[in-house]
Amino acid sequence: MARTSAEPLSGEQLAAIGGCTNCHTAKGGAYLAGGDPIVTPYGVFYAPNITPDPATGIGDWQEIDFVRAMRAGRAPDGTPYYPAFPYTSYHRMTDADLAALFTHLRSVPAVRAPRREHRLRFPYGFRFTLRLWQWLFHEPRPFEPDPTRDPLWNRGAYLVLGPGHCAECHTPRGPFGQLDWSRAFAGNPDGPEGGDVPNITGDPERGIGSWSLDQLVLYLEIGMRPDGDFAGGPMAKIIEIGTGRLPPRDRLAIATYLRSLPGH
Ligand code: HEC
Ligand code: HEC
Repeated sequence: MARTSAEPLSGEQLAAIGGCTNCHTAKGGAYLAGGDPIVTPYGVFYAPNITPDPATGIGDWQEIDFVRAMRAGRAPDGTPYYPAFPYTSYHRMTDADLAALFTHLRSVPAVRAPRREHRLRFPYGFRFTLRLWQWLFHEPRPFEPDPTRDPLWNRGAYLVLGPGHCAECHTPRGPFGQLDWSRAFAGNPDGPEGGDVPNITGDPERGIGSWSLDQLVLYLEIGMRPDGDFAGGPMAKIIEIGTGRLPPRDRLAIATYLRSLPGH
């Protein structure tokens, strides 16, 4: 199994950097008891209740069910999930991190809150098409460290590509909504909430190649850009509850990895 760090994150920290609450908690609602509408080009999704309530949440799940959801993108009965749930990144998480995250989910208050049906455009409402989509575009594979790189770089790669799911917003998508890895982290004009998500590759003009390592670390901690502006939109929340609360070494790891990305 992939070893990426001497000090593992807690399940709570993994939930924060994983942004679970951003989608699974409604404004003013109970933690992880179901989220606000997620508006996408395919229609509106509702992230369900993932508290331990057996009837409306995932209280009757075993760890193996959770691991399957996070890696294969499948429900306990085998039904495929929409990639609006970013298992397309989470599948890289280590066994140990998934176990810690599941333990955290088991520990939150159980809330009775029935799931809301997604409202999807034709033909996206047909879940069986997802089997084909997963067959074409999803191959679950835990993160493999690159032996030619040092542990700090590998730790950053793991956090960015796995739990941090940074590519889900920062990488452009192909015609079927699949991540276009040939242009990894080159930005996405159709990001969440209809926003334009910036290029974070090493390209000095289009990306963040002109930022120093320290400037990038500071941005991940408090959201201040080198020009003195502060992060807005969904990134503000990612920093506030996610990267801003990581141990400093993990922020340095993320910045080290990002700065190594070839410009696009
Ligand atoms: C970008 C929004 C988003 C984020 C971030 C997100 N989810 Fe979800 N999640 C969803 C959506 C939407 C679904 C429903 C998918 C479907 O119906 O096919 C879902 C479904 C699930 C399910 C299946 C629940 C069930 O009853 O079948 C689990 C478990 C889950 N998410 C856990 C997590 C965890 C743990 C995290 C954080 C590491 C997380 N999610 C982050 C949007 C999100
Ligand atoms: C939910 C979508 C989303 C996710 C997930 C996300 N980002 Fe962002 N990110 C954005 C948006 C939107 C902006 C632009 C913020 C603004 O307008 O101030 C941004 C801005 C940035 C910037 C500044 C770029 C610039 O030119 O201003 C960096 C660096 C960055 N993100 C890194 C990351 C890293 C590292 C992760 C993973 C830990 C991540 N992002 C995850 C949406 C996201």
